[in-house]
Amino acid sequence: MASPIEHTPPYYVGYFIGSLSEQSINRTLARALMRLAPRELEFTEIVIKDLPLYNRDLDGHFPQSAIDFKASIAEQDALLFVTPEYNRSIPGALKNAIDWASRPHGANVIARKATAVIGASPGAIGTAVAQQGLRSILSFLNAPQMNAPEAYITVRPGLITPEGEITNPATEDFLRAWMVSFYEYIERVLTVVPSPARGDARG
Ligand code: FNR
Repeated sequence: MASPIEHTPPYYVGYFIGSLSEQSINRTLARALMRLAPRELEFTEIVIKDLPLYNRDLDGHFPQSAIDFKASIAEQDALLFVTPEYNRSIPGALKNAIDWASRPHGANVIARKATAVIGASPGAIGTAVAQQGLRSILSFLNAPQMNAPEAYITVRPGLITPEGEITNPATEDFLRAWMVSFYEYIERVLTVVPSPARGDARG
């Protein structure tokens, strides 16, 4: 059993961008979150764009891209999902990536990772429906998730610069506090879940 001392900061956070778009507002939101996050969090993008479509016929012999993808998740203490809403759900590319991460049966690398969900949309409800769907998926995959505060970000032109600077001070304060909450949540999960989170690929 791992000693709690292993779970001192920094905490390693893998982040997913649900959009494949070069102009993604969710990518700029992720940049903003990293700028505003406590320094004790270290971020690595979990890249989803190179994965083929999941096919269970490959469960015995995953392609190298999926093996590498799962390994990059297993190394993390926590996972942050920054996603658009597509047709009141999560984008297919993100669902495909999660399906790879969850398989083969018994080798789900998302299990027991501390997770948080956030998303940006030009729409008034700011990805709320997609986030609820994603929360359901993460529950099924046995990932503890930060329930509150929720964050549904309606992005108007100019709110976030391409470099990830927030131009509205109230939004900036909100997102900074949200990242502090996530940091505290990761710390709580790592304190109460004694099994080593890093490198744990059990299902
Ligand atoms: C959308 N968009 C969208 N927005 C929303 O709030 N709810 C929705 O259900 C949808 N559905 C939807 C489907 C598809 C296929 C596309 C391409 C777009 C609009 C979406 O929020 C907008 O394009 C965002 O800019 C997408 O996020 P990224 O790619 O900029 O991060």
